[in-house]
Amino acid sequence: MTFTQITQAPPRINRSELAVPGSSMKFVEKAAQRGADVIFLDLEDSVAPDDKPRARKNVIKALNAFNWGQSAMSVRINGLDTHYMYRDVVDVIEQGGDRLDLIMIPKVGTAADVYAVDMLVTQVEDAIGRKKRIGFELIIESAMGMANIDAIAAASPRIESLHFGVADYAASTMARTTAIGGPNPDYLVLTDPDKSGDREEHWGDMWHYAVARMVVAARANGLRPIDGPFGNIGDADGFRAQARRAAVLGCEGKWAIHPGQIALATEVFDPPKAEIARAKKILKAMKQAQAQGLGAVSLDGRMIDAASVRQAEVLVAKAKLIAGATSSKKKSTKPKAKKAKAKSKKR
Ligand code: GLV
Ligand code: MG
Repeated sequence: MTFTQITQAPPRINRSELAVPGSSMKFVEKAAQRGADVIFLDLEDSVAPDDKPRARKNVIKALNAFNWGQSAMSVRINGLDTHYMYRDVVDVIEQGGDRLDLIMIPKVGTAADVYAVDMLVTQVEDAIGRKKRIGFELIIESAMGMANIDAIAAASPRIESLHFGVADYAASTMARTTAIGGPNPDYLVLTDPDKSGDREEHWGDMWHYAVARMVVAARANGLRPIDGPFGNIGDADGFRAQARRAAVLGCEGKWAIHPGQIALATEVFDPPKAEIARAKKILKAMKQAQAQGLGAVSLDGRMIDAASVRQAEVLVAKAKLIAGATSSKKKSTKPKAKKAKAKSKKR
């Protein structure tokens, strides 16, 4: 093990991350009742330029007025190349109240982008005497962002998670697709002909490199890697498949760009019961092995050792975090959207 310690971001359940356009108060109000782990109120790409000031006002009002239950609250600000961005940060933090947990920064290209937002956020927090520190969610969605991802991931102690923005990433890398994520029939290998001359098409995952690269940068810096949007909102099986392959690579959650995708993301990113049971079995078996002075033993026909213990501990810790949140969710009253000013709750 390296002598360098990784500081982990504050633990937060992030199985589902619901995207809500800040321009639609109707959608924003409904979002409060959906029970997503994280909700980001969007001021960026889902809001037309002329609508930005109104959307900003909506978001501020909604953060103060609605009961967001157990959801962590985030606001996606506009990019650093726009003149909307500074006012997004200043107005939302100054007027958004205590309920805001996170700021999502889109199209991060360099570590200096994060530094610039950190500077602004710090000034506003200090000026208003805000006690709860705002965390950052960064979207990696450009060739430049991907090229600089290691420096970006280490750019501020505020960063909690990296998100793969597949649509903008496709645009930036000039990938030949107009879909938002998902598989691509042109990304395949053709097998050599078999004895009967038949050939098979094997589809690959054109986003594999990007997601795997993001997972490495995130984990090396103690951050949560989160998979971004899946555009085909009517395709539940397609969503599940995309989410599962992201989970297998190490992602902790996925965006829901439609409320119907929240339950799918929760289902996939909840560690399966059988895996948790197996993890607990591994921990028990290794404890017994260590008591006997053994470093590796066989469990159900497979070798396990100290690395298996570390894998199992990750899984059991995640299951505990989720179980704790679920039981406190059950105890708390059902999230209800209210028009009247509600007390903002601290997490
Ligand atoms: C998200 O912002 C994306 O571009 O996919
Ligand atoms: Mg984007």
